[in-house]
Amino acid sequence: MRRILSGIQPTAKIHIGNYLGAVRNWVRLQREDYDPLFCAVDLHALTVPQDPAELRAATREMVATLMAAGIDPDRSTIFVQSHVPAHSELAWLFSCVTPMGWLNRMTQFKEKAGKHRDQAMVGLYTYPVLMAADILVYQATHVPVGEDQKQHLELAREIAGSFNHRYGVDLFPLPEPQILGEATRVMSLRDGTKKMSKSDASDFSRINLTDDADLIAQKIRKAKTDPEPLPSEPAGLDGRAEAANLVALYAAMAEQPPAAVLADYGGQNFAPFKAALADLMVAHLAPIAGELRRLLADPGTVEAVLARGAARARALGETTLAETQETMGLLARPTG
Ligand code: TRP
Repeated sequence: MRRILSGIQPTAKIHIGNYLGAVRNWVRLQREDYDPLFCAVDLHALTVPQDPAELRAATREMVATLMAAGIDPDRSTIFVQSHVPAHSELAWLFSCVTPMGWLNRMTQFKEKAGKHRDQAMVGLYTYPVLMAADILVYQATHVPVGEDQKQHLELAREIAGSFNHRYGVDLFPLPEPQILGEATRVMSLRDGTKKMSKSDASDFSRINLTDDADLIAQKIRKAKTDPEPLPSEPAGLDGRAEAANLVALYAAMAEQPPAAVLADYGGQNFAPFKAALADLMVAHLAPIAGELRRLLADPGTVEAVLARGAARARALGETTLAETQETMGLLARPTG
């Protein structure tokens, strides 16, 4: 049985990049022989400044989005990270057996902290330790993640391995990264060299899951391209970041290799290709957007799912936490 754990930061307005990069792949992991757990990692979101009311709304919206996109609470455990205190408690225990040198290697911290490292919050620095706890508190064996999280997952493996070794136990499996399908890295519609991002000032740089059909068509029509027609083969996309991005987006939506897309559209101008891409997106996204609107208007359904998810996650997490505490020499909790 594969125990699968993944997390996604709560952001209001999930865009097509988050969807194709993570959530769509999660939907496929809901198999009889897997045990998938998916969480909105609100504690990770706190490592950068957040408006409290916005964070709360974004967390609810992220959970509703997961459900609208096809994560089924009957087949997956859906929960909010902060509803399971064992994540934070295990993170503390791990922070006592993780050398600072391991964290000093983390490239994401270096990028996010930038030049003002002294002003960065301690939580941003120890973020990967909490992520290791998210995974290991469920003794997860497989972790679907994007390319940018591979280093953090490697750290989780190191923490698991060194813990087992230090205490002579076999408590934590070494979690495997699960990079699924075409690595879909969706770029901005305005600049094909920049990742599509919710923080981009221009809403025309991204397609949100909540955009309606007209807006999607308009954004695709206005997406930046170059004056050349589409090439007939993928090699012809070299040095054409915007064209490459649109072809990748089409390929991901149609679930075809880029070569097959170019076999159909090579030699043509962008206009008919963009029209077809917009149609494909609308067909795929409209049902999700509709279901998301329905769920946001019905908070009771989302709350019930979260209550169920938290109960199961807590039961699993508590067991691992208690075993870890005992292994490290903490006095057993009084019963009764
Ligand atoms: N750090 C991940 C990201 O930013 C989110 C995350 C937190 C996560 N905990 C996790 C992903 C555990 C996988 C497993 O994308």
